[in-house]
Amino acid sequence: MLYIFVNGKILDSESPAIKVFDRGMVFGDGLYDVIKMQNGNFIFLEDHIERMKKSAKFFGIKFPYDLEEIFEVGQKLSAMNDLKEGELYLQLTRGVDIIRDHVFEDDYEPTFVEIVQPVRKMNPEIWQVGARVLLHPDLRHNFCEHKTTDLLPNVIAKKYVRSRGAYEALMFRTDEGGKYVTEGASSSYIFFDGEKIIAPKIENILPGITRIKVLWLAKEMDIEVEERRVYIDELLKMKEVILLSTLSRVLPIVKVENFEFKKGEIAKKLDVAFMDLCASHLSVK
Ligand code: PDD
Repeated sequence: MLYIFVNGKILDSESPAIKVFDRGMVFGDGLYDVIKMQNGNFIFLEDHIERMKKSAKFFGIKFPYDLEEIFEVGQKLSAMNDLKEGELYLQLTRGVDIIRDHVFEDDYEPTFVEIVQPVRKMNPEIWQVGARVLLHPDLRHNFCEHKTTDLLPNVIAKKYVRSRGAYEALMFRTDEGGKYVTEGASSSYIFFDGEKIIAPKIENILPGITRIKVLWLAKEMDIEVEERRVYIDELLKMKEVILLSTLSRVLPIVKVENFEFKKGEIAKKLDVAFMDLCASHLSVK
């Protein structure tokens, strides 16, 4: 059991807190975000909230709390659940209908959920040994620049890779030039070609907070960064494949399918710099 926050109230996670006609429940009509909680701090909380607020505005969903309120609830949940390390999960849905109906008006009271939970299980050695990923078609919609709750294609891709012993999907779409990389089921990718970092352009993929910070760090280290489509055929020429996310940090990829990559220096340097940045980051007080 965890203590959770739903629309202004602290509840037991096993209590029936969400109404059956909540549009998040029936339509996936909502947004979410995941923030790392480290030593009681919420890393880059303001960036995550900013991203969520922008998406809420885009979809016309009311955003009911400000940064300070979300921070305070997070601190309260961290204390009540006796967790200093974990994940802060935020979910916002458009609100509740009287009957199921696709059509929505403009006057909903949103459903806002805040959860502090232990970090999902990860092998701590993964950063040393690197991870394997598998190709999977990107079967999602055209709203992938937003962190929407309708994650069925993502969970199917994740199940596909995990049931084959791999860590993450490397999803791709197809254009006239062939198959190009989009992102992972819950992570971003960047590549190092021996001279520069190449990051898939933000076109129907999530502007990951880790991606933003890591590309900034790379530029600070005088590593050139190029943002463009990266084709699967080009991967054979890459020196390093690197996965990024709030929970995976900067993770070297040592195999795409059965094709091997070296665990390179760039991933290592960026991970050290990223961990320093996280450690020095203080959330709002
Ligand atoms: N996922 N791309 C997708 C599709 C994601 O779901 C995520 C994050 C990322 C990386 O974004 P960020 O650097 O802001 O964490 C990229 C979270 C961790 C999740 O769904 O649990």
